Amino acid sequence: MQLALQVLKKVLPAAACTALLCSSPVLAAGDQPSVPYVPTPQAVVERMLAMAKVTAGDYLIDLGSGDGRIVVTAASKYGARGFGVDLNPERIDEANDNARRNRVTDKVAFYQRNLFDTDLSQATVITMYLLPRVNLQLRPKLLDLKPGTRLVSHDFDMGDWKADEHVRMGANDKFSGAGGESDVYLWIVPAKVAGTWRSRLTAAGKPQTYEIRLEQKYQSVGGSVRVNGKPALIQGAKLSGAELTLSFTAEINGAPVKHEFSGRVDGGRMAGEAALSGKQLASRVEWIAERTEAAR
Ligand SMILES: C[S@@+](CC[C@H](N)C(=O)[O-])C[C@H]1O[C@@H](n2cnc3c(N)ncnc32)[C@H](O)[C@@H]1O
Repeated sequence: MQLALQVLKKVLPAAACTALLCSSPVLAAGDQPSVPYVPTPQAVVERMLAMAKVTAGDYLIDLGSGDGRIVVTAASKYGARGFGVDLNPERIDEANDNARRNRVTDKVAFYQRNLFDTDLSQATVITMYLLPRVNLQLRPKLLDLKPGTRLVSHDFDMGDWKADEHVRMGANDKFSGAGGESDVYLWIVPAKVAGTWRSRLTAAGKPQTYEIRLEQKYQSVGGSVRVNGKPALIQGAKLSGAELTLSFTAEINGAPVKHEFSGRVDGGRMAGEAALSGKQLASRVEWIAERTEAAR
């Protein structure tokens, strides 16, 4: 990663001011590239798409798409649809040629556009080979995407938003054949779950009321639970996209009962199942919770 950063940093001032990019009449004022052109080695492209588990049902957007190799590979190998954006018109021409050569023009498109002005709401997968500061600039917008959207970045992370998966691999054809190592990072956009949630269940023949307070930093979740007003500590909490699992032990009728909730978060509502197990109790019931107060 250090080498990649050094190379990108070294070429950035020169690349940002090549005659093509700085004097191009088709670039709007202020639309200067945030990152120079360095292609992702094909083996790394394949790994990025495999990590994101791309399928024909996906819509992939590559931010700063270069010669279009990521979008074209997603379409030709997996049947995914999508588009790429790049400020450099030469790259857009190369990407369109690439799509024609690979017969995927019905699935992909390339637009000469600033990545910061691009509507990402259609994406199920976003790929990037940018720079750390550009990733950080994009981060708030990425965190607001649909929960479950997969983000894959070549070489650069997202600061204190830790990746859900990270691999390092060798790539002989990196940096025009000089070779090097590539880091590939995957994040799954987490649902926003922080706040207070209320739920009711019938257990041991009686209604039980639950108040669940959740705190969240990116995909990491913790908090506390009160069952019928009595505190119970959360033992485990995991959030992946919109899928949340929570486990805690609470007293019901004077006996400890383990609760394992799993469900999907959709705005201010969670719905799923709760598995309850205790000495005199083992049941699986429908579980619905409503958010009564969002975190400030
Ligand atoms: C490091 S290259 C990555 C190319 C391609 N995604 C790949 O992985 O092979 C970054 C690309 O982003 C483009 N770019 C830089 N700043 C941009 C911006 N603000 N909006 C759109 N494209 C940009 C550059 O022209 C360059 O083609």
